Amino acid sequence: MQLTGAVVLVTGASAGIGHVAAARFAAKGAQVLVHGRDPARTTKVAGEVGGRALIADLAVAADRQRLAAEAINAFGRVDVLVNNAGFGYYGPVSAMAIDAIRRLIEVDLLAALELTRLLLPGMVERDRGAICFVTSIAGRTGVGGEAVYSATKAGLDTFAESLRAETARSGVNISVVVPGVVDTGFFETRGAPYTRRRPRPIPAETVADAVVRAVERDRAELWAPRWLRIAPTVRALAPGAFRRLAIRFGGTGSP
Ligand SMILES: NC(=O)c1ccc[n+]([C@@H]2O[C@H](COP(=O)([O-])OP(=O)(O)OC[C@H]3O[C@@H](n4cnc5c(N)ncnc54)[C@H](OP(=O)(O)O)[C@@H]3O)[C@@H](O)[C@H]2O)c1
Repeated sequence: MQLTGAVVLVTGASAGIGHVAAARFAAKGAQVLVHGRDPARTTKVAGEVGGRALIADLAVAADRQRLAAEAINAFGRVDVLVNNAGFGYYGPVSAMAIDAIRRLIEVDLLAALELTRLLLPGMVERDRGAICFVTSIAGRTGVGGEAVYSATKAGLDTFAESLRAETARSGVNISVVVPGVVDTGFFETRGAPYTRRRPRPIPAETVADAVVRAVERDRAELWAPRWLRIAPTVRALAPGAFRRLAIRFGGTGSP
């Protein structure tokens, strides 16, 4: 998809991967709608990339709907939606408050589904558009201590795959970018630091570049880092061995 002049909404662009992705889209000549929850951080990033700030708490239903309406009103259309906003949670499911479970599902899964539902029709009507989902290796393999987070990311993956089939005859491309461990404020926000030595965290730039590449080149799926795609392959070929290794080495830090 030609990015010059395209209207691109990046959710969760006030920090981390979304921040860099917003800058990368702006550098390609796109008109960038910088979404965030924190007004000061979001406005700062919007100023930095020459975009427009849109503030919304994606855990709030009215905010999600307002965000879609404001995004369309800004330039009369949205050509690209990057569903990137999200946060993590680390700890056993039995110790999770139901409100914490609900919040994770609302922000990490429902918000992306709802924004897609509201912005996709315009793209299909114009026969031009792209929707990119930032998922996670956690959604492909499952991770102990991150069951609900992993479930939301698996949900995004399956939603995207189904949507790709649904929109196959339109000019709208659906993509997923699957990151491993990324060096952002994600771990600080979830309240549990990443403690493993390997795999080493990759920079947010690597994931942001994959997002832009997926949209620009109409790709269905990209991994960051690329070698990580071996994990679900090993799991499919040798599930028993994979589970034993995951219990022995996993659980204390995967995103
Ligand atoms: N970092 C990793 O290791 C890793 C690995 C795999 C996948 N991912 C995924 O990558 C995406 C981006 O994460 P990141 O690493 O860039 O983390 P980050 O630096 O913590 O950024 C998270 C972004 O999501 C926004 N956000 C969080 N809760 C929100 C809410 N309730 N309403 C609206 N916006 C909200 C934040 O906005 P405010 O700051 O304004 O609140 C921020 O812009 C997430 O979906 C995450 O699951 C990350």
